[in-house]
Formats: sequence, structure tokens, C-alpha cells
Amino acid sequence: MRVLAISGSLRQDSYNTALLRSAAELAPDGVAFELHDRLAEIPPYDQDIQDEGAPVCVEDLRDRIAAADAVLIATPEYNGSLPGLLKNALDWASRPFPDNALRNKPVAVVGASTGAYGGIWAQAELRKVLGIIGARVVEGDVSIGHAQEHFDSDGRLADAELRLRIGELLRDLAAQVELRAGLQSV
Ligand code: FNR
Repeated sequence: MRVLAISGSLRQDSYNTALLRSAAELAPDGVAFELHDRLAEIPPYDQDIQDEGAPVCVEDLRDRIAAADAVLIATPEYNGSLPGLLKNALDWASRPFPDNALRNKPVAVVGASTGAYGGIWAQAELRKVLGIIGARVVEGDVSIGHAQEHFDSDGRLADAELRLRIGELLRDLAAQVELRAGLQSV
């Protein structure tokens, strides 16, 4: 199974990007992770540009989503919602609608924040956006509050319980991929 991991943070020492790197280590055998870390290149969504032909970086994002069996998104929470750059990237990925690269794609959402609640509002909004786009959002959630207390100095997720929950979420994601493959072969 190929998982495209997308972080909603551009920060060098981002907890969300660190969470994705830890998830890659915790993934069951046979799961290959690829990190998409080029969201900063994606311009603001412009329907005129979309109509003329999307930029190369947008086509690259769409191609990488299409080539993946599943997507794992780690989002920070900015002012109670998902970061604008992540929403912008998803707006591009949602076109052409409804036959976009995310349609029926299994997607899991996680998040880390320095606040107490782990960015649960951002994750709820992200799930809503993904649902409208047509993705299959898996139910499990891992929200890491007070993120600074749960990663070690190498940026690894240090909390044993959270590591277990990430492993469980990845197994749920793999199950959703298998279910989808089974449905397609019927
Ligand atoms: C934040 N942060 C934040 N945290 C939270 O739990 N709820 C919130 O609404 C906000 N709002 C917010 C707005 C803006 C503009 C910034 C820059 C930050 C704090 C945020 O959780 C913290 O900076 C995380 O470390 C961001 O994630 P990364 O960059 O570490 O992945």
C-alpha cells in the first residue's frame, strides 16, 4: 500500500510533519510512505488558471494523490480551523469535480497542536472539506494536544499510547484500501 503523507505546516520543526515521519516508522509491513512537502509552491486557487491548465506543481499533487492507495493528512490548527495553504491545495486537488484524484480515496486525518485540544476543530473542518470533495475519510482520529510534550528531541513521537493509536489508525486505513479494492473487483 502506498500512502501519500501531507503536512499542513511549512515549519521546519513542525510537530505535524514530525507526526507523519513517526507514522511512517509505525506503519505495518508493506506500507510505503511518501511525504508531500511542496505545498508552499502551490499558488492561490484561480479558476481562470484552472480553465487554462493547472500549474505543474498542482498536476504533480494530483498525480501523487492519484498514484497513492491512501492519503494521510496531519494538520495544525490555525485560529480554530485548518491552515489556508492546506485548504488551498485541497481546492486545487478537488478539480475537476466530481472526478478528482481524491474521489473515493481513503484518507485519514491526524493533528498536533501546542494547544490543549490537539487541533480538533481543524481536523473536524478538514474532514468536512474532504467529505465534500468526495474522499472516503476513515473514522479514527489522533489529536495530539500540548504537542511539545509528546515528541523527543529528534522529533519522534515519544508517547507509547499515541504510537499505538497511530498504528491502529494506519491499520484502519489499510482496511479501507482493501475494502475499496474488493469493491472495484466485484
Ligand atoms: C496557532 N496555534 C493554535 N493551536 C490551537 O490548538 N488552536 C488554534 O486555534 C491555534 N491557532 C493558531 C494560529 C496561528 C496563526 C498559529 C501560527 C498557531 C498553535 C499551533 O498549534 C502551533 O503553532 C503548532 O505548533 C503548529 O503546528 P506545527 O507547525 O508544529 O505543525
